[in-house]
Amino acid sequence: MPVIELSETKNPVDDADLQFDANGRLRHLLTLRGLKREQITALLDRAETFLSPPGQIAVRSNSLHGVTVGNLFFEPSTRTRASFEIAAKRLGADLINLDVNTSSRKKGESILDTIYTLQAMQVDVFVVRDASAGVPAYIARNINDRVMILNAGEADVSHPTQGLLDLLTIRRHKDNFEELTVAIIGDVAHSRVARSASEGLMTMGVGELRLVSPDALAPEQDDFPGAKILHNLNDGIRGADVVMALRIQRERIDSLDEIPGMDEYFANFGISHERMKLAAPAAIVMHPGPMNRGIEIESSLADGPSSVIVEQVTNGVAVRMALLEEVVKTMEKK
Ligand code: CP
Repeated sequence: MPVIELSETKNPVDDADLQFDANGRLRHLLTLRGLKREQITALLDRAETFLSPPGQIAVRSNSLHGVTVGNLFFEPSTRTRASFEIAAKRLGADLINLDVNTSSRKKGESILDTIYTLQAMQVDVFVVRDASAGVPAYIARNINDRVMILNAGEADVSHPTQGLLDLLTIRRHKDNFEELTVAIIGDVAHSRVARSASEGLMTMGVGELRLVSPDALAPEQDDFPGAKILHNLNDGIRGADVVMALRIQRERIDSLDEIPGMDEYFANFGISHERMKLAAPAAIVMHPGPMNRGIEIESSLADGPSSVIVEQVTNGVAVRMALLEEVVKTMEKK
């Protein structure tokens, strides 16, 4: 895969502001920064309407009839890619999954030329995952004004739809963000999931956010304003209402020698039944997936009654349906 050269941007607008059209409507989702509490709440409320009781047929609509969605995943994905595909189809959209291994990017085509090619075929919404920071915003600055960009995972920077599905999952179990203590455990330094969850939780007024990591995987405080950075798992879990384990992002760690061995990691930072005894009664356990069972989380805990990991996946489809509907509204009255 060629290295992406992010050339000069056309204007200096911050990514958070770039997301909104001239009427203040959400046109792209690049980051949860810049979204107001009411906007997130409205997306979560809409997402709730796309959830059906277990065993019942999935909710569908035709609200995206005539819209074409392009999935462009230049990094591996199971959940996010399938979830966007299902969301688009359940809303009646046409969908293309670009196979990056057989696409012309393999021949050196730039990401913008790939986008321009699909834009010429009237793809309206691009869902983009890329290992390089800045790619979704770069595309958003350079496409025509009928097209929308949704960030499906950007380097270690941002994964806003994961943040939304995490918020929805928490909200369905806990009444009031302001009374919650949330502990995010593990490789926070390299985690776009932690960044987006943190941004969303802060906007929703979370009571306390704790980030618990070994030294080598700890974040910079400046990247997580308002969060408590801790290095002891017991201190992190004690009294927490929500415990979120993170995947160790091996692909983003420069020197694996700096992180503890896997047995040591589980002993000190793995979420287990024993550790969860310290959490608040009725605490929920989350993980964005993919999971490394027995390293980040005890396998039977991941499958146990306090785990909401499967719900996170279900909720992911619902928030992506709500988001697709929301951004497509900007196509009207252009
Ligand atoms: N949580 C998440 O982004 O999973 P995928 O990498 O499978 O999309």
